[in-house]
Amino acid sequence: MSTLAFLVSLFGAFVTGVVNSDLHSIVVRRCRLRSGKIKKSLRFVVLSDLHGRCFGKHNRRLIRRILALKPDCVLMVGDIMTAKDFLHSIPSSVDEACRLIGALSAHCPVYFSLGNHESRVQWLQEDFPFAYEEMMERFRKAGARILDNENCLLGDSGVRLYGLTLTSSCFLSGRHDHLPGKVLRSFIGKADKEHFSVLLAHDPEYLPDYAKWGADLCFCGHFHGGIIRLPFIGGLISPKRQFFPDFSAGLFRLGGKCQLISCGLGTHTLPVRFFNPAELLLVELDGARNKEDQYGNTGET
Ligand SMILES: [Fe+2]
Repeated sequence: MSTLAFLVSLFGAFVTGVVNSDLHSIVVRRCRLRSGKIKKSLRFVVLSDLHGRCFGKHNRRLIRRILALKPDCVLMVGDIMTAKDFLHSIPSSVDEACRLIGALSAHCPVYFSLGNHESRVQWLQEDFPFAYEEMMERFRKAGARILDNENCLLGDSGVRLYGLTLTSSCFLSGRHDHLPGKVLRSFIGKADKEHFSVLLAHDPEYLPDYAKWGADLCFCGHFHGGIIRLPFIGGLISPKRQFFPDFSAGLFRLGGKCQLISCGLGTHTLPVRFFNPAELLLVELDGARNKEDQYGNTGET
C-alpha cells in the first residue's frame, strides 16, 4: 500500500469514527441564568431535532439521561420527527415520539413547540390528509402541552413560556429575511414584560428579531449545529444551504437578552454529525439579588 493510500484510509477511518461517535453519544451542555423577574428556581432540559432517532430501544438511553438531570420541565423545540417519513400513513417515528413524551411527562411537564417538519405535515394536507391533526392529538394524549403560537405561565415561577410556529415562507431556501415585530406579534402577541419571557422558536435565523420582540430567553434548534462543526469557526452549513451561518449553536446575547441554540439530537437526509455530538441543554433559572440579568455557560458533560 502506498503512503498516500494509507493516509487516505487512515483519514477515512478517523472521519467514520468521529461521525459514528457523534451520532450515538449525547452531550449535556449546561447554562445558568439569573433574572430579577424569576420568583422560583427552575431546571429546564431542552431537546430539539430528534428527527425520529432512537437512543437505545424506545429511547430508553435518552430518557434515562434526561431524567437523571432532574428537570422541572422538559422543553421540546420541534422536529421530533421527519416529514418525509409520512408516505401514506403515520410513521413509527410518531409512535416513538409518543413513547418518549409519555415517559417524560410521567415525571414532569413536557412543553412542545413546532418545528418546520411538524408544520410541513400540516402544509402538505393534500398529501397527508388528517395526518397533522392525528399526530398532534397523539402528542397531546401522550402528555405534551403543545404551544402552537400560544403561551402559558409556569406556575408561580414568574416565567411565561411562548411557543412560536412560523409560516412555510420563513423556511424557504435562499431567503434570508427578518421578522418585523408586527409579524411576530401577529403570531404570538406582545411579550409580557411583567414576567420572564421564554420563547421556544425553532428557527434561529430570526434571533435578533426574537430579542427585539422581547424574549428574555430564547431556545432554538433547526440548524443541527451546522452539521459539521469546525474548531474556532462553528457550524458549516444551514438548512437553507448558507455556509457558516451566524447562529448555528451555542449561547448568544443580543439586545441584552439571552439566546441558546441547541445542536439537536438527530439527522435527516444526510446521516452525518461531525465534531457535533447529539446534545441536550440543561438550563437553570434563578432569581437575582439585584435586578440586573446575568447569564453564564457552566460547561458540558
Ligand atoms: Fe428544523
